[in-house]
Amino acid sequence: MVSDREKHWNKVYEKGEITRLGWYEEKAEQSLGLINTCGLHPSDCILDVGSGATTLLGSLLRAGYENIIATDLSAVALETAKKRLGADLAARVRWVVTDITSPENLAAPGEVSLWHDRAVLHFLIEEEQRQAYLHTLREVVRPEGYVIIAAFSLDGAKKCSGLDVYNYDAAMLTAFLGRDFELKKAFDYIYHQPSGAARPFIYTLFRRLR
Ligand SMILES: C[S@@+](CC[C@H](N)C(=O)[O-])C[C@H]1O[C@@H](n2cnc3c(N)ncnc32)[C@H](O)[C@@H]1O
Repeated sequence: MVSDREKHWNKVYEKGEITRLGWYEEKAEQSLGLINTCGLHPSDCILDVGSGATTLLGSLLRAGYENIIATDLSAVALETAKKRLGADLAARVRWVVTDITSPENLAAPGEVSLWHDRAVLHFLIEEEQRQAYLHTLREVVRPEGYVIIAAFSLDGAKKCSGLDVYNYDAAMLTAFLGRDFELKKAFDYIYHQPSGAARPFIYTLFRRLR
């Protein structure tokens, strides 16, 4: 059965105006900058959570990363992403349509070297959803693997795409992930939507302890 959340996001991407979405980035500079510091091997598994139609995948493929999973609950989003990448690049990504709070066929336990989430966790408002997200993360991220989470900051918007969001700072994300994740980097970043509106984010990079 298609959930309301899935319907909502499918409708968003069905409009087809990807470059006008309120989270569109021509280049995911902040994410790429953090990923570059991780020193990953090209064959290390990168999981992009709530990938949408991000340009990050193309940047990663062109940089030589060859083990990428793109996951989203919206099948329309991932179909859009595939089309934008083109058949050759798209064939090099594992595409998984699933809800990150109750995932199916996502990744093997401990398979993921880098979990990347830009603007997804903050949509999980209920504590039960946040804990389910965390459960998935803890299941698939390997010891010494990395976690990047970018979310609307405490002084950021309270809604996105018509949905309420849960705002974060670095301390809240550190407490959320728990003691076996060490905060390596955190910075504020003001993203400007295609409309020009400012959307303050907190970007964080964590490493899981051994
Ligand atoms: C604001 S968009 C960000 C997309 C992408 N990360 C980016 O930076 O361009 C949020 C994305 O999260 C997806 N999403 C929302 N809730 C989700 C969930 N529970 N599980 C998986 N994906 C989800 C939406 O379909 C949407 O593509």
